Amino acid sequence: MHRFKYRGRKLYCEDVRVADIARAVGTPAYIYSKNTLLDHYNKLKHALREFSPLLCFSVKSNSNLAVLKTLVDVGAGLDIVSGGELYRAKLVKADPRKIVYAGVGKKQNEIIEAIRYGILFFNVESQEELELINRCAKRLKKKVNVAIRINPDVDVSTHKYITTGKAESKFGVDFKTAKNIFRSSWRYRSVDIKGVHLHIGSQILNLEPFEKAIRKTLRFLADNKIFIEYINIGGGLGIVYTFEKPQTAMGFAGRISSIIRKSGLKLILEPGRFISGNSGIMVTKVLFRKKTGSRNFVIVDSGMNDLIRPSLYEAYHNIVPVTKPQKPSARVKYDIVGPICETGDFLAKDRKLGRIKRGDLLAVMGAGAYGYAMSSNYNSRPRAVEVMVSGNRFFIGRKRETYRDLVRGETTR
Ligand code: LLP
Repeated sequence: MHRFKYRGRKLYCEDVRVADIARAVGTPAYIYSKNTLLDHYNKLKHALREFSPLLCFSVKSNSNLAVLKTLVDVGAGLDIVSGGELYRAKLVKADPRKIVYAGVGKKQNEIIEAIRYGILFFNVESQEELELINRCAKRLKKKVNVAIRINPDVDVSTHKYITTGKAESKFGVDFKTAKNIFRSSWRYRSVDIKGVHLHIGSQILNLEPFEKAIRKTLRFLADNKIFIEYINIGGGLGIVYTFEKPQTAMGFAGRISSIIRKSGLKLILEPGRFISGNSGIMVTKVLFRKKTGSRNFVIVDSGMNDLIRPSLYEAYHNIVPVTKPQKPSARVKYDIVGPICETGDFLAKDRKLGRIKRGDLLAVMGAGAYGYAMSSNYNSRPRAVEVMVSGNRFFIGRKRETYRDLVRGETTR
C-alpha cells in the first residue's frame, strides 16, 4: 500500500499535504514517500524470509541519493549498471558485498572501479565481457566473482521495449553459450563463476514466466552438472498503475519458493519498480486549457522530458487532483499534454476527469520508478525538484535545476 491518500479533499503524502510541498518547492516536483519505499522493501524481504535473500534495489528505477540511502540503511543491496550508478552507491556508503553489476556494455574503467570497490559480483552478459573482466582482475591481482546472465528465451506479456528474456533480445547469453562458458571456465583464472543471473523483463503481471525461466535455468545447471552458489532472479515484478492485478510479494514467494528451496542456491533479487514505483508521484500545474475540434487539451508545466513513460511506452499513469473540488463536477475527457514541441508529448489521452481549471495542481501517480531517472533537458527545460517525505516532514532530495545547470560544461569556442 502506498502512502498517497486523500484526507477530505486534500491529497497527502504520508502526513504532509502535497499542496504544501508544491507551494514550498514549486512544480513540476517529484515527491517520494520514505515509508512506502520501506514498506515495499520489507514486504518482499518478509515474503522470502526463509531464504534470507539479498534484495538489490535496482538503482536505474530511481537513483536519487535520498532514496538509495533509505534502502541501504535498512540493509538493501544495489543492482547497478554503470560507473555512474557505482558512484552513487559509494556516496550512500552501500556495502560493496551487496552490489551486483549488470549491463551488456560495461567499459574497462567501469569494471576496474567496481573491482576496486569489491562488489559481490558482475552479471556477465557475453564471453568477450568475461574475458575483459578476467584481464582486469589479473592486472589488479584480484579474484573476481561473476554470475552468468542467461537469456532463457521466455516470453513475457509486457511492453515490447521492456521484455528482455526472449532469444532475440540483446541481454545475457543463450544456454549453449552458457554451457561453453562454464566448460571453459578454467581459462578464466582470475574469475570465479559463482552464480547465474536472470532478468526477463519489467512490469510482469503474471507468475508463469518467472517460474518458467527459473525452472529452465535450474534444469540447465542440473543437466550439465554445474555447481554454483547463487541464483539471481533479477527484477520485473509488476505493480498497480490502474486496474492491473499483479502478484503480491506473498504470491510471488509462494510460487517460486519450492523451486528455489530444492535448488539449495542462495537467492538474490533485483527489484526496482516493485519498491519505487508507487512510492513516488509527480506534481504538475495546469498552465492553460484549450479546445481544438473534438479535443480538450489541458496543458501542464511538465512534459515528456520530465516523465517519458506515456510517450515511450504508452504507459498509463493515474492522474488525480491535488485538491478535490468542493462539489463534484461532470467529468470531461481531457488530453493532458506538456509544453514540449512534439506531438508525442503527453501524460494522458482521453482521460475522464472532473473539471480542471488554470492553476490546478495535478498528481501523476506511480511515478517513482523510471520517472525522474529517465528525465532529460529536452527543449532546454531544467529538470524537476525531488522531495522526500517521512511522516510529517519533508526535505529536498535534489534541487530543481537552474538555467546555469543547463549549460554547465558548454563553451562557444
Ligand atoms: N535487473 C536488471 C538487470 C534490469 O535490467 C532491470 C530493469 C531490473 C533489474 C529492474 O526491473 P524492475 O524490477 O524495475 O522491473 N524504463 C522502463 C523499464 C525498464 C526496465 C529496465 N531494466 C519503464 O519505465 O517501464
